[in-house]
Amino acid sequence: MSKIIIANWKLNPSSSADAKKLAKESDVKGLVIAPPFPFLEFVASIIKKAKLGAQDLFWEESGAYTGEVSGTQLKGLCVEYVIIGHSERRMNLGETDEMVAKKVAAAVKDGLIPILCVGETREQNDKNKAVEVIEQEVRIGLSRIAGITSEIIVAYEPIWAIGTGNPDTPENMLKMVKLIQETAGRLNLKVRCIYGGSVKAANAEEFLKYNEIEGALVGGASLRGEEIKEIVKIAAKY
Ligand code: 13P
Repeated sequence: MSKIIIANWKLNPSSSADAKKLAKESDVKGLVIAPPFPFLEFVASIIKKAKLGAQDLFWEESGAYTGEVSGTQLKGLCVEYVIIGHSERRMNLGETDEMVAKKVAAAVKDGLIPILCVGETREQNDKNKAVEVIEQEVRIGLSRIAGITSEIIVAYEPIWAIGTGNPDTPENMLKMVKLIQETAGRLNLKVRCIYGGSVKAANAEEFLKYNEIEGALVGGASLRGEEIKEIVKIAAKY
């Protein structure tokens, strides 16, 4: 299966005109674009080669859940992938492993490919707690879909590497990816592991060259059309 690059635009850009420009510039095969919710529909109408992702979903289908968006609604907008449990949501909005697990199950039920994000803080890393944290986030995050055979992506995104310009070392990344695969294996799951955290065109090869790494989740660099296309080009070599 070819490698996958996911452009997580986060809360960017601020205007629909800029979003339109960026979507046009980034539209290549091998890329999943995850824009903010308000831009999903028109990004879907612009892209021809890239695929569409969402940055979150809620586990219920409908009802009294102010501000939430369901998997069915996303499917209706041609969304194929959904990012779940990003550290920015865990930290800023208090998303727990149990909430993340419900979202992963809802995504699978609605036929979306979940991208489960896991990662430890700098402090947890310094205290040698990374293995414990990642094992728990994967074990609980995937607990409600044990044994299924559809595509599941797990993104290892150490929090200390996000937006800092200091990515993980390939050695540590490979160690964590092995841990993720073993943990998923105990749930009878085979997952595709990708890496995120300060990935840019200049360093993408250092991660993407490994068979164990099936792609990258890119934040800052995905806001530059030329740069994200370059990362996709690097991924296509492997
Ligand atoms: P950066 O690429 O900006 O470090 O962000 C990574 C990330 O959080 C992607 O989800």
